[in-house]
Amino acid sequence: MQPLTSDKADPPVDTSSETSKLRTSQQRVSRRRFLKSMIGSIVAAPFLMGAYSRWVEPKWIRSRELTIATQRLPQAFQGMRIAHLSDLHFGDHTSEQEVDSLISRVMKARPDMICFTGDLVEDHKVSGKAIIPYLKKLRAPFGQYAVLGNHDYRRGTDLATEVLTEAGIDVLTNKARILSHIGSSMAIAGIDDALDGTPEMGNALASVPDEMWTLLLAHEPDWADYTVSSHVDMQLSGHSHGGQIRAPFYGPIFLPEMGKRYPDGVYTLPREHDHPLMVHTSRGLGTTLLPLRLFCPPEWTMITLQSEM
Ligand SMILES: [Fe+2]
Repeated sequence: MQPLTSDKADPPVDTSSETSKLRTSQQRVSRRRFLKSMIGSIVAAPFLMGAYSRWVEPKWIRSRELTIATQRLPQAFQGMRIAHLSDLHFGDHTSEQEVDSLISRVMKARPDMICFTGDLVEDHKVSGKAIIPYLKKLRAPFGQYAVLGNHDYRRGTDLATEVLTEAGIDVLTNKARILSHIGSSMAIAGIDDALDGTPEMGNALASVPDEMWTLLLAHEPDWADYTVSSHVDMQLSGHSHGGQIRAPFYGPIFLPEMGKRYPDGVYTLPREHDHPLMVHTSRGLGTTLLPLRLFCPPEWTMITLQSEM
């Protein structure tokens, strides 16, 4: 009788072919997943970048420390620390709370002098007067000074001048102050806005002897091309916002008129047979036109003066 079961083995299954089929299908799935995530990333990147440039970077105000060596600086002012603020553009995109927090940070650093280089209020819907209580906290032993920017002219110079003056900030429109310390003197001068105002270097420096170390506040950095013809030793400016939006390996996509030649950081302009002009351009605190910043965070700078032989 034939057994009901047989010991005869089943024909061998080709497992290597099954495994390879499985592997191929897994590879297809993972390739599909990879392609999907690639496409997802490509689609999402502009949105993420847009959100970052709108909501993250403009709020990320950094403080920069800089030492600038300058010839002719009297020993009495060696090591002087100047807080350089610019382009607040208070309004829709910069709140009262942000201004308050910024000013607390500046005052915590205990500057010897505070300089604001223009463009105080941006938005037509807000009153600059709302920030007077915060601006009143800006106090330094050698004083607090400002000039007007082109946006201050758009809002009305009366408003900017009134806000700054009421806050105890000296608005230097084509004029200068002489500061004395331990038997030495220096001058701080300011020039009216070069685009919308009436800049008068003759008036700004009328009370300043040529041999006196002089700091000039000028909203537009490219004014330095005129400043270099004077005896001024250092110019502080803003206006360019460093471009506000920068592309990697390219730099600023757009720079405003009078903010193209010296748009960001420290520059040395040589003079024949004379001391060079040092220029510092701040990227500023706020935004204008588009409320965006990309690879160009807002900033304020603490500049330490160092005398150079
Ligand atoms: Fe500005």
